[in-house]
Amino acid sequence: MHMINFKNFSGEALIEIIDKAIEIKNNPENYREALDGKSLAMIFQKTSTRTRVSFEVAMTQLGGHALYIDWRTTNFTIADIYDETQYLSRNVDCIMARLKKNADLQVMAEASQVPVINGCDEKYHPTQAIADLMTMKEKKGKLKGLKLVYIGIHNNVCNSLIEGCTKTGVKIITVTPIFNEPSRDNDLLNEAKRTGLYETTLDVKQAVKDADFVYTDTWVDMEFFLDPKYKKEKERRMKIMMPYQINRELLKGSNAYIMHDMPIHRGYEISSEMIESPQSIIYEQSENRLYSAKSILLKLLGKC
Ligand code: CP
Repeated sequence: MHMINFKNFSGEALIEIIDKAIEIKNNPENYREALDGKSLAMIFQKTSTRTRVSFEVAMTQLGGHALYIDWRTTNFTIADIYDETQYLSRNVDCIMARLKKNADLQVMAEASQVPVINGCDEKYHPTQAIADLMTMKEKKGKLKGLKLVYIGIHNNVCNSLIEGCTKTGVKIITVTPIFNEPSRDNDLLNEAKRTGLYETTLDVKQAVKDADFVYTDTWVDMEFFLDPKYKKEKERRMKIMMPYQINRELLKGSNAYIMHDMPIHRGYEISSEMIESPQSIIYEQSENRLYSAKSILLKLLGKC
């Protein structure tokens, strides 16, 4: 079983992973040898802090081993992804890959003899969404009936949140004046709409009313953030998005918890003041990447 997105996961399966993550967080000593002798290959075409650290530490704390592989130093750069993955998957028990293109990840999944986990591509970020839902369940003791408002660019994180929320009974409203076209998955959006739990609007003030959680993400994808060729598009986005910044004014009268998957760009998608506010659960959310990584690994390796 791979985790490319949540298409092959039922709501019950997602809840099982989320609940196990909470259980592991509370009882880490029970899992110290759960992946004894197992290896995880972590291969990155893009930068990462949380995804790399959480999966590497997760493997160590579960008694296994993780290999960090920088794509640029491998022969993936000069050979077929299919052939290189055939080899790689004969030496490890699981692969976690952060690739630029979902199409390449699909090739990897097809070639692999072992589970492949999507560490974030242009369409999905499923491991982030598991940590997000775990954090929400910890805060409220349930998922069904909660309301999350995502404010930002419609992107990979947004897709996985929509999929994860609607499968676990959470209402999700997106306020996304810009749609990152490479992330488009109309099947995912249509499926989410059919549940009656997904809506999209530009009325941000109305959307945040009664929200349990308000969530934002970067307005510029990580691979473009420092790219001078992307400067004009970055400026265009800032102009359109500034009225949608999460700040004191936007959240006046709201008790919603504030979420962000990080890395944060202070003063852009969120004001510094709101990152530090008592409503912010951003750092807990990022810490939960560790426990959710453990739970995902155990599930995909058939250990729970
Ligand atoms: N949220 C997230 O995936 O963080 P990194 O890009 O640092 O891994």
